[in-house]
Amino acid sequence: MQAVILSGGQGTRLRPLTSTMPKPSVPLVNRPMISYMVDWLHGYGVRDIVMSVGFLADGLRAALDDAGHDGVEIRYVEEHEPLGTAGAVKHAQQFLDERFLVLNGDVLTAFDIAAEIDQHDRTGARATLALVPVDDPTAYGLVLTDEQSRITDFLEKPAAADVPDNPRINAGAYVLQRDVLDMIEPGVNASFEHDVFPHLPTEEIYAFDAEGYWLDLGTPERYMDATRDLLDRKLDSWLAERLMAGGLAIEPGVDTAGCQIEPPTVIAEGCELGDGSRIAAYTVLSHGCHIGENCELDRAVLQRGCTLGDGVRVTNAILGPGVQIGAGATVCTGSVIGEGAVIEPGATIGAGSRVEAGATAAA
Ligand code: GDD
Ligand code: MG
Repeated sequence: MQAVILSGGQGTRLRPLTSTMPKPSVPLVNRPMISYMVDWLHGYGVRDIVMSVGFLADGLRAALDDAGHDGVEIRYVEEHEPLGTAGAVKHAQQFLDERFLVLNGDVLTAFDIAAEIDQHDRTGARATLALVPVDDPTAYGLVLTDEQSRITDFLEKPAAADVPDNPRINAGAYVLQRDVLDMIEPGVNASFEHDVFPHLPTEEIYAFDAEGYWLDLGTPERYMDATRDLLDRKLDSWLAERLMAGGLAIEPGVDTAGCQIEPPTVIAEGCELGDGSRIAAYTVLSHGCHIGENCELDRAVLQRGCTLGDGVRVTNAILGPGVQIGAGATVCTGSVIGEGAVIEPGATIGAGSRVEAGATAAA
């Protein structure tokens, strides 16, 4: 089975994490976000992946090479300018089989995609869309169906007034017949959500009810939700086994003797932890982070190579790679600090702040 993964969005809502790397390569619990999707597809026998990329594509390729995906062939199809979700797949048409999967690359999920493909083949649909229930569909594609699971309406980012009871949304996982691409003009920006799905006749487009974990990773809040869910093993991942004994995944060689560490926590190799520091639950330290003495990290996500002075407090925040935080500084809940930013000693980064990559925040 073949899959096209759409990874060419700019990831605007995840800035500043996405200012210096493409969204799919942003690490989520120490593995590129997109690797969770590749692992999931691999588990269902997908061996041929076309990665549709645009913005900062080289970084994505390097991150995936590093992550190691043996047994899966990944090809990259680049756009010089964003062509939209459907335009991007049209652009990759020469590589595509008669029937293939299309996936939004910013989703973390584990549903049974083999069952979706089976249903697609059984119904003879030209397009089958996985649907999931959500409380508020206004940030998604709302999908309405008839009793035979055929799609009668597709409303992208609907107004609250148009939302029915028990709404289901487009999960961003499609099975398509290649001839659906005949509806799209080559080289022109087009989206499945606006230009294709609403125009397919009801008898050709079906819904598949996906069951199990599903999350769109588009915002820092949802990135933190995903981090917690992975640490809670709400879905199967490379971490599940590592966290099995006591909820701690600490690489050998990391000296934790002088600290208080509360599970579930992940600490990668090359981290140094100062005496008297407390690493509270749902904290993730990526490779080579240096934590000073008497620090307090609570639900903190530190990407590769961050350095914290003594007495630093970080609560429910994300630090991009190589962030430096001076002694006694505080990073409050909901903040996101971009790659290589410097927080000066004693500074306070208020709740919900964004510090740009490479910026300096003074005390
Ligand atoms: N190659 C390429 N080119 N990829 C793109 C482009 C493009 O021009 N534009 C977007 N993408 C990719 C994004 O990187 C992302 O992985 C996926 O397509 C969806 O785009 P988003 O920008 O994240 O859309 P959204 O989250 O607002 O809405 C979409 O996803 C929801 C589920 O998460 C829609 O498909 C909704 O209908 C859906 O409910
Ligand atoms: Mg999205």
